[in-house]
This record gives sequence, structure tokens and C-alpha cells, in this order.
Amino acid sequence: MAGRNKITVVGAGNVGATAAHWIASKELADVVLIDIVEGTPQGKSLDLAQSAPIDGFDVNLKGVNSYEESKDSDVIIITAGLPRKPGMSRDDLLKTNADIVGKVTDEVVKYSPNAFIIVVSNPLDAMTQVAYKRSGFPKNRVLGMAGVLDSARMRCFLAEALEVSVENVTAFVLGGHGDTMVPLPRYSTCAGIPVTELLPKEKIDEIVKRTANGGAEIVGLLKTGSAFYAPSLAAVEMAEAILKDKKKILPCAVLLEGEYGINNLFVGVPCKLGKEGVEQIIEISLTNDERAALQKSAGSVQELIDILGV
Ligand code: LAC
Repeated sequence: MAGRNKITVVGAGNVGATAAHWIASKELADVVLIDIVEGTPQGKSLDLAQSAPIDGFDVNLKGVNSYEESKDSDVIIITAGLPRKPGMSRDDLLKTNADIVGKVTDEVVKYSPNAFIIVVSNPLDAMTQVAYKRSGFPKNRVLGMAGVLDSARMRCFLAEALEVSVENVTAFVLGGHGDTMVPLPRYSTCAGIPVTELLPKEKIDEIVKRTANGGAEIVGLLKTGSAFYAPSLAAVEMAEAILKDKKKILPCAVLLEGEYGINNLFVGVPCKLGKEGVEQIIEISLTNDERAALQKSAGSVQELIDILGV
């Protein structure tokens, strides 16, 4: 019997530790949790391991401060970086986090040359591009988590407005993970019915705005950090789709090479995830307004890439 899969989570803050929690609870893989702070990954892994008899999962959990233990991971989830403070945009974090993500990538690649890398650090699209460039990996093995989170937020708000199960609602969000993201109500449905037929335009506009502002809303409430339950689970859903070869269509930040008229840039678009990682980029037809909004969003990611020179 083949052994369990192995996922390394870099960063044992709220997002990283909660990702480890979801992975363990789903019995998806053994987890190596890495952080530079001594004791934090060890303590959180030990605590999580002690929840195993209660929840009933059997996976190995290891917390460490260096990368040797990450050897031969199937998936690496990079959450390392500074989180946003109230009033700070994701882009304020640009240079500090680019440096952190670059160094982390060098290390993980050294020990796991065949892994898939899922980036969660912000500003998301630019950090994914940094990891891609630094890793030298093919584009199907480096992807960023944002669209799954953004569309989950939109689904949550839509289900609340429609007073239906969240399971009935799908939502579609394109573009960079920033203020210019492009929620697409036309492609968002409740039990297959476009939400544009079920909710008044004003309500939909309000939900679109709240979705784009979804991360900042939580930063404003928490004051000392950013969201972590939904972001971590979104990254784990992507890892699960790859490890189980589910061929699941999820919005992810991936390298576009001409798709949607965008070139050499990581931006969120629907992708098929399976055992090869990003197996297909799905191009849907957009109205002129939607296309313009996507171009604008890509433009703001490009600005960051130009600043970083990656
Ligand atoms: C958010 C952060 C993680 O959207 O970007 O909550």
C-alpha cells in the first residue's frame, strides 16, 4: 500500500496552523509545519496531534524550524509573510513578503523538487509569480489561492440573501486577489438558476462590493490580523483536488500565456486541478464590461510585478 501523502505548510501563523488542522481533520496527508519562530510550529503540531484521538484522524504531524523534514513533500502550502494591519492594503506588503516567499521557495524546492506549490501569502498573485520564477518549476505546479476564497465569500453572502443552503450556491470570481477582483454574478447560480434572476440588481451590487472587500472587512474586525479559517480551507481544497486527482474546476491564480488576452502574468481564472496540478485553464466568454474589469485587475497585478522586477 502506498504511504500517505505529505504536505508541508510553511508559516505556523493562523493561516498555516489552521491549514494543518483542516488537512489532519480530513486525513488528507501527513503534515510538516514550518516556522522560523522557535516553539510555535512544534507547540501547534503537538496540540493538534493531541486532538487526533478525539477527532479520530491518523496522520503524522511535525512542527519544525528548518526544511529537512519537508523532504519529498507532495504539496507545499506557503503562508509565510506578514499579514495586513487595519488600513493596510495587500500591496503594502509587497516587498517584504516577496523577499520571504523567495527565500522559502528556494528552501522547499531544494527538498521537494517534484512538489506542487500553492501560495497563500499576499499580495497573492504577485507572490505566486515570485514563487514560480524562483522555483524554476513548470507552470502546472505553481498556483495561488485566492479565487476559491473570494468565491466562497460571495457564495456565503448570496446564500444569506437568498435564504438557501450554501451548498445550493456557486459563485464565480475572476482576476487578481485585490480590490479590483471581478465577481461575475452572471455566472453565479442558485440550484443552477443564475442569481441575476433571483435577486434585485442593488442587492447583487452590494454583494459584489462586499466580496471584493471581504478580506478588509475581516481585518477591520480582527484588528490584529487577517482572515484564516476560509483562506486556509481554500488552499486545502486545492491541495485535495490535486492529490485525489479530482479534475475539479476551481478559480486559481495561474500563469496566463495569452489566455483572456493576458500574458506572462499570474491572475485568477478557472482551472481544472488534478494529478498534474493545473491541467487546464478554462476560458469563458465575457461581456465587454467583464473583459475590461479583468484587464484592469490584471493591470494592477502587472504594476506590482513591475515594481518587483520578477
Ligand atoms: C483575505 C486575505 C487573506 O482575503 O487576503 O482575507
